[in-house]
Amino acid sequence: MSNVNELNSKFGVPGVVTIDEGKGGLTRVRVTAPAAEAEIYLHGAHVTHYKPQGQKPVLFMSAESLFDPAKAIRGGVPVIFPWFGPNANDPKAPQHGFARTTVWPIRSVSTSDHGVVITLGLASSDATRKVWPHEFEATFTVSVGKALEMSMDVVNKSTREIFFEEALHTYLAVGDIRRTTIDGLAGRTFIDKVDNKARKTQPPGAFTLSGETDRVYLNTPDTVTVDDAANSRRLVVSKTGSASTVVWNPWTDKAKAMSDFGDDEWPHMLCVETANAGDNVLTLAAGAKHVMTATVAVG
Ligand code: BG6
Repeated sequence: MSNVNELNSKFGVPGVVTIDEGKGGLTRVRVTAPAAEAEIYLHGAHVTHYKPQGQKPVLFMSAESLFDPAKAIRGGVPVIFPWFGPNANDPKAPQHGFARTTVWPIRSVSTSDHGVVITLGLASSDATRKVWPHEFEATFTVSVGKALEMSMDVVNKSTREIFFEEALHTYLAVGDIRRTTIDGLAGRTFIDKVDNKARKTQPPGAFTLSGETDRVYLNTPDTVTVDDAANSRRLVVSKTGSASTVVWNPWTDKAKAMSDFGDDEWPHMLCVETANAGDNVLTLAAGAKHVMTATVAVG
Protein backbone atom coordinates (compact mmCIF):
# COMPACT_ATOMS: atom_id res chain seq x y z
CA MET A 1 0.00 0.00 0.00
CA SER A 2 3.01 2.32 0.24
CA ASN A 3 2.54 3.61 -3.30
CA VAL A 4 -1.06 4.48 -2.51
CA ASN A 5 -0.05 6.13 0.78
CA GLU A 6 2.56 8.24 -0.98
CA LEU A 7 0.07 9.27 -3.66
CA ASN A 8 -2.47 10.18 -1.00
CA SER A 9 -0.06 12.37 0.88
CA LYS A 10 0.94 14.10 -2.36
CA PHE A 11 -2.44 14.40 -4.12
CA GLY A 12 -5.20 13.47 -1.64
CA VAL A 13 -7.72 16.10 -0.54
CA PRO A 14 -9.43 15.07 2.73
CA GLY A 15 -13.05 14.15 2.18
CA VAL A 16 -12.85 14.92 -1.56
CA VAL A 17 -10.03 13.02 -3.31
CA THR A 18 -8.71 9.67 -2.09
CA ILE A 19 -6.25 7.38 -3.82
CA ASP A 20 -6.75 3.71 -2.98
CA GLU A 21 -6.34 0.20 -4.33
CA GLY A 22 -9.28 -0.48 -6.59
CA LYS A 23 -10.36 -3.72 -8.24
CA GLY A 24 -7.54 -6.11 -9.09
CA GLY A 25 -5.27 -4.05 -6.82
CA LEU A 26 -5.05 -1.32 -9.48
CA THR A 27 -4.53 2.22 -8.27
CA ARG A 28 -7.69 4.30 -8.28
CA VAL A 29 -8.57 7.94 -7.62
CA ARG A 30 -11.92 8.40 -5.92
CA VAL A 31 -13.62 11.77 -6.08
CA THR A 32 -16.51 12.71 -3.80
CA ALA A 33 -17.37 16.33 -4.51
CA PRO A 34 -20.64 18.11 -3.72
CA ALA A 35 -21.60 18.19 -7.41
CA ALA A 36 -20.62 14.64 -8.38
CA GLU A 37 -18.62 11.53 -7.59
CA ALA A 38 -16.19 9.70 -9.88
CA GLU A 39 -13.52 7.04 -10.02
CA ILE A 40 -10.45 7.05 -12.24
CA TYR A 41 -7.96 4.20 -12.57
CA LEU A 42 -4.36 5.14 -13.38
CA HIS A 43 -4.36 1.97 -15.54
CA GLY A 44 -5.36 3.53 -18.86
CA ALA A 45 -6.28 6.90 -17.27
CA HIS A 46 -9.65 5.22 -17.22
CA VAL A 47 -12.75 6.94 -15.81
CA THR A 48 -14.86 4.01 -14.59
CA HIS A 49 -17.55 5.93 -12.74
CA TYR A 50 -19.23 9.31 -12.89
CA LYS A 51 -22.44 10.20 -11.08
CA PRO A 52 -23.70 13.74 -10.69
CA GLN A 53 -25.49 14.43 -7.42
CA GLY A 54 -29.06 13.04 -7.47
CA GLN A 55 -28.55 11.12 -10.75
CA LYS A 56 -27.98 7.49 -11.66
CA PRO A 57 -24.44 6.66 -12.89
CA VAL A 58 -23.83 8.17 -16.32
CA LEU A 59 -21.23 5.62 -17.41
CA PHE A 60 -21.83 1.92 -18.04
CA MET A 61 -19.36 -0.53 -16.51
CA SER A 62 -19.47 -4.22 -17.30
CA ALA A 63 -19.78 -6.51 -14.28
CA GLU A 64 -17.48 -8.87 -16.21
CA SER A 65 -14.71 -6.34 -16.76
CA LEU A 66 -11.21 -7.48 -16.04
CA PHE A 67 -9.01 -5.34 -13.82
CA ASP A 68 -5.72 -6.73 -15.02
CA PRO A 69 -2.56 -4.70 -15.78
CA ALA A 70 -2.34 -6.38 -19.19
CA LYS A 71 -5.97 -5.86 -20.25
CA ALA A 72 -8.28 -2.99 -20.98
CA ILE A 73 -11.13 -2.19 -18.61
CA ARG A 74 -14.59 -2.81 -20.17
CA GLY A 75 -16.84 0.21 -19.69
CA GLY A 76 -16.37 3.77 -18.46
CA VAL A 77 -14.13 5.80 -20.76
CA PRO A 78 -11.19 3.90 -22.28
CA VAL A 79 -8.59 6.30 -23.70
CA ILE A 80 -7.68 5.13 -27.19
CA PHE A 81 -4.31 6.23 -28.59
CA PRO A 82 -2.32 6.23 -30.90
CA TRP A 83 -4.39 4.08 -33.24
CA PHE A 84 -8.08 3.21 -33.36
CA GLY A 85 -9.18 -0.41 -33.92
CA PRO A 86 -6.61 -2.82 -35.30
CA ASN A 87 -3.18 -1.39 -36.16
CA ALA A 88 -3.09 -1.00 -39.96
CA ASN A 89 0.62 -1.91 -40.19
CA ASP A 90 0.88 -4.60 -37.55
CA PRO A 91 -1.97 -7.06 -36.98
CA LYS A 92 -0.25 -8.29 -33.78
CA ALA A 93 -0.22 -4.84 -32.18
CA PRO A 94 -2.91 -4.34 -29.51
CA GLN A 95 -6.33 -3.25 -30.74
CA HIS A 96 -7.02 0.45 -30.01
CA GLY A 97 -3.37 1.23 -29.13
CA PHE A 98 -1.47 1.03 -25.87
CA ALA A 99 -2.82 4.00 -23.90
CA ARG A 100 -5.68 2.04 -22.35
CA THR A 101 -3.35 -0.63 -20.95
CA THR A 102 -0.58 1.66 -19.70
CA VAL A 103 -0.40 3.27 -16.28
CA TRP A 104 -0.73 7.06 -16.48
CA PRO A 105 0.90 8.72 -13.45
CA ILE A 106 -0.97 11.53 -11.68
CA ARG A 107 0.40 14.95 -12.59
CA SER A 108 -1.85 17.13 -10.44
CA VAL A 109 -5.09 17.36 -8.49
CA SER A 110 -6.90 20.62 -7.83
CA THR A 111 -10.27 21.65 -6.48
CA SER A 112 -12.43 24.68 -7.10
CA ASP A 113 -16.08 25.67 -6.82
CA HIS A 114 -16.46 24.25 -10.33
CA GLY A 115 -15.34 20.77 -9.31
CA VAL A 116 -12.28 18.57 -8.98
CA VAL A 117 -9.66 18.43 -11.71
CA ILE A 118 -7.35 15.43 -12.01
CA THR A 119 -4.52 15.45 -14.54
CA LEU A 120 -2.69 12.31 -15.65
CA GLY A 121 0.21 12.07 -18.08
CA LEU A 122 1.76 9.57 -20.43
CA ALA A 123 5.06 10.10 -22.23
CA SER A 124 6.91 8.00 -24.77
CA SER A 125 9.08 5.31 -23.18
CA ASP A 126 11.02 2.24 -24.25
CA ALA A 127 7.77 0.25 -24.00
CA THR A 128 5.77 2.62 -26.21
CA ARG A 129 8.62 3.00 -28.75
CA LYS A 130 8.59 -0.77 -29.31
CA VAL A 131 5.07 -0.56 -30.77
CA TRP A 132 5.04 3.08 -31.92
CA PRO A 133 8.46 4.62 -32.60
CA HIS A 134 7.63 8.25 -31.91
CA GLU A 135 8.23 10.75 -29.13
CA PHE A 136 5.12 12.23 -27.55
CA GLU A 137 3.66 13.59 -24.36
CA ALA A 138 -0.03 13.03 -23.69
CA THR A 139 -2.04 14.63 -20.92
CA PHE A 140 -5.50 13.53 -19.89
CA THR A 141 -7.45 15.95 -17.72
CA VAL A 142 -10.71 15.01 -16.04
CA SER A 143 -12.91 17.61 -14.45
CA VAL A 144 -15.56 16.17 -12.15
CA GLY A 145 -18.40 18.63 -11.63
CA LYS A 146 -21.97 19.09 -12.82
CA ALA A 147 -20.66 17.66 -16.11
CA LEU A 148 -17.82 15.25 -16.78
CA GLU A 149 -15.25 17.18 -18.79
CA MET A 150 -12.32 15.33 -20.33
CA SER A 151 -9.42 16.69 -22.32
CA MET A 152 -6.81 14.69 -24.21
CA ASP A 153 -3.75 16.75 -25.21
CA VAL A 154 -1.00 15.27 -27.34
CA VAL A 155 2.30 17.04 -27.97
CA ASN A 156 4.59 15.80 -30.72
CA LYS A 157 8.05 15.61 -29.15
CA SER A 158 9.59 14.08 -32.31
CA THR A 159 11.61 16.00 -34.86
CA ARG A 160 9.19 15.16 -37.67
CA GLU A 161 5.43 15.03 -38.06
CA ILE A 162 3.46 12.20 -36.51
CA PHE A 163 0.15 10.62 -37.46
CA PHE A 164 -2.20 9.21 -34.87
CA GLU A 165 -5.78 8.33 -34.07
CA GLU A 166 -7.48 8.75 -30.69
CA ALA A 167 -10.80 8.29 -28.95
CA LEU A 168 -12.49 8.85 -25.63
CA HIS A 169 -14.44 5.62 -25.97
CA THR A 170 -17.33 6.67 -23.73
CA TYR A 171 -19.73 3.90 -22.62
CA LEU A 172 -22.96 5.70 -21.73
CA ALA A 173 -25.33 3.94 -19.34
CA VAL A 174 -28.84 3.67 -20.79
CA GLY A 175 -31.93 1.93 -19.42
CA ASP A 176 -32.75 0.11 -22.66
CA ILE A 177 -30.91 0.65 -25.94
CA ARG A 178 -34.06 -0.36 -27.87
CA ARG A 179 -35.84 2.67 -26.41
CA THR A 180 -32.93 5.07 -26.83
CA THR A 181 -32.64 7.65 -29.61
CA ILE A 182 -29.49 9.31 -30.89
CA ASP A 183 -29.69 12.80 -32.33
CA GLY A 184 -27.10 15.07 -33.95
CA LEU A 185 -25.64 12.99 -36.76
CA ALA A 186 -28.28 13.40 -39.48
CA GLY A 187 -26.87 13.86 -42.96
CA ARG A 188 -23.37 12.75 -41.91
CA THR A 189 -21.33 10.12 -43.72
CA PHE A 190 -20.36 7.03 -41.75
CA ILE A 191 -18.27 3.93 -42.28
CA ASP A 192 -20.42 0.94 -41.43
CA LYS A 193 -18.08 -1.61 -39.88
CA VAL A 194 -20.80 -4.27 -39.70
CA ASP A 195 -21.42 -3.93 -43.47
CA ASN A 196 -17.94 -4.34 -44.99
CA LYS A 197 -17.01 -0.75 -44.15
CA ALA A 198 -19.59 0.56 -46.62
CA ARG A 199 -19.92 4.35 -46.65
CA LYS A 200 -23.44 5.48 -45.90
CA THR A 201 -25.31 8.66 -45.11
CA GLN A 202 -27.25 9.00 -41.88
CA PRO A 203 -30.91 9.75 -42.77
CA PRO A 204 -32.61 12.88 -41.37
CA GLY A 205 -33.79 12.92 -37.76
CA ALA A 206 -32.88 11.02 -34.63
CA PHE A 207 -32.40 7.24 -34.83
CA THR A 208 -32.66 4.11 -32.69
CA LEU A 209 -30.39 1.08 -33.02
CA SER A 210 -31.95 -2.28 -33.88
CA GLY A 211 -28.97 -4.62 -34.12
CA GLU A 212 -25.20 -4.77 -33.83
CA THR A 213 -23.90 -1.30 -34.66
CA ASP A 214 -20.32 -0.20 -35.26
CA ARG A 215 -20.06 3.08 -37.14
CA VAL A 216 -17.40 5.72 -37.55
CA TYR A 217 -19.13 9.01 -38.43
CA LEU A 218 -16.69 11.25 -40.28
CA ASN A 219 -16.34 15.03 -40.15
CA THR A 220 -18.70 15.32 -37.21
CA PRO A 221 -17.87 18.12 -34.76
CA ASP A 222 -21.50 17.74 -33.67
CA THR A 223 -23.01 17.53 -30.22
CA VAL A 224 -24.87 14.24 -29.83
CA THR A 225 -27.94 13.93 -27.64
CA VAL A 226 -28.93 10.52 -26.37
CA ASP A 227 -32.53 10.29 -25.25
CA ASP A 228 -32.80 7.42 -22.79
CA ALA A 229 -36.56 6.92 -22.49
CA ALA A 230 -36.29 4.05 -19.99
CA ASN A 231 -34.45 6.29 -17.54
CA SER A 232 -36.39 9.43 -18.55
CA ARG A 233 -33.21 11.39 -19.09
CA ARG A 234 -31.01 12.82 -21.81
CA LEU A 235 -27.25 12.54 -21.99
CA VAL A 236 -25.46 15.16 -24.03
CA VAL A 237 -21.99 14.57 -25.46
CA SER A 238 -20.32 17.74 -26.74
CA LYS A 239 -16.76 18.09 -27.90
CA THR A 240 -13.96 20.12 -29.46
CA GLY A 241 -10.96 19.07 -31.53
CA SER A 242 -12.71 15.88 -32.60
CA ALA A 243 -13.73 15.19 -36.18
CA SER A 244 -15.10 11.65 -35.75
CA THR A 245 -17.89 10.14 -33.70
CA VAL A 246 -18.07 6.39 -33.17
CA VAL A 247 -21.39 4.76 -32.31
CA TRP A 248 -21.12 1.20 -31.04
CA ASN A 249 -23.31 -1.45 -29.44
CA PRO A 250 -22.39 -5.15 -29.73
CA TRP A 251 -26.00 -6.40 -29.46
CA THR A 252 -26.65 -10.10 -28.76
CA ASP A 253 -24.14 -12.29 -30.62
CA LYS A 254 -21.10 -10.06 -30.24
CA ALA A 255 -21.93 -9.62 -26.54
CA LYS A 256 -21.84 -13.39 -26.14
CA ALA A 257 -18.52 -13.57 -27.98
CA MET A 258 -16.85 -11.03 -25.67
CA SER A 259 -15.38 -12.74 -22.61
CA ASP A 260 -15.24 -9.55 -20.52
CA PHE A 261 -18.83 -8.47 -21.19
CA GLY A 262 -22.04 -10.02 -19.84
CA ASP A 263 -24.33 -11.72 -22.36
CA ASP A 264 -27.25 -9.60 -21.16
CA GLU A 265 -25.50 -6.28 -20.67
CA TRP A 266 -25.85 -4.90 -24.20
CA PRO A 267 -29.27 -3.25 -23.69
CA HIS A 268 -27.75 -1.08 -20.96
CA MET A 269 -24.95 0.63 -22.86
CA LEU A 270 -24.28 2.85 -25.83
CA CYS A 271 -20.85 3.99 -26.89
CA VAL A 272 -20.74 7.51 -28.30
CA GLU A 273 -17.04 8.01 -28.81
CA THR A 274 -15.33 11.35 -29.26
CA ALA A 275 -12.60 10.52 -31.74
CA ASN A 276 -10.24 11.35 -34.55
CA ALA A 277 -10.14 8.15 -36.55
CA GLY A 278 -10.19 6.71 -40.05
CA ASP A 279 -10.23 9.52 -42.63
CA ASN A 280 -9.86 11.92 -39.70
CA VAL A 281 -6.44 10.60 -38.64
CA LEU A 282 -4.45 13.49 -37.18
CA THR A 283 -1.20 14.87 -38.53
CA LEU A 284 0.81 16.77 -35.94
CA ALA A 285 3.89 18.80 -36.84
CA ALA A 286 7.05 18.49 -34.74
CA GLY A 287 6.54 20.40 -31.49
CA ALA A 288 2.82 20.94 -32.13
CA LYS A 289 -0.03 20.08 -29.77
CA HIS A 290 -3.51 18.78 -30.44
CA VAL A 291 -6.31 19.09 -27.89
CA MET A 292 -9.49 17.03 -28.01
CA THR A 293 -12.20 17.52 -25.39
CA ALA A 294 -15.38 15.67 -24.58
CA THR A 295 -18.05 16.77 -22.13
CA VAL A 296 -20.78 14.44 -20.94
CA ALA A 297 -23.72 16.02 -19.17
CA VAL A 298 -27.17 15.02 -18.10
CA GLY A 299 -29.40 17.24 -20.22
C1 BG6 B 1 -15.32 0.29 -30.96
C2 BG6 B 1 -14.95 -0.26 -32.30
O1 BG6 B 1 -14.82 1.57 -30.84
O2 BG6 B 1 -14.77 -0.53 -29.94
C3 BG6 B 1 -15.46 -1.69 -32.39
O3 BG6 B 1 -15.49 0.55 -33.33
C4 BG6 B 1 -14.94 -2.52 -31.25
O4 BG6 B 1 -15.07 -2.24 -33.64
C5 BG6 B 1 -15.26 -1.84 -29.94
O5 BG6 B 1 -15.52 -3.81 -31.30
C6 BG6 B 1 -14.73 -2.55 -28.71
O6 BG6 B 1 -13.36 -2.77 -28.86
P1 BG6 B 1 -12.56 -3.57 -27.77
O7 BG6 B 1 -11.16 -3.70 -28.28
O8 BG6 B 1 -12.63 -2.77 -26.51
O9 BG6 B 1 -13.24 -4.90 -27.61
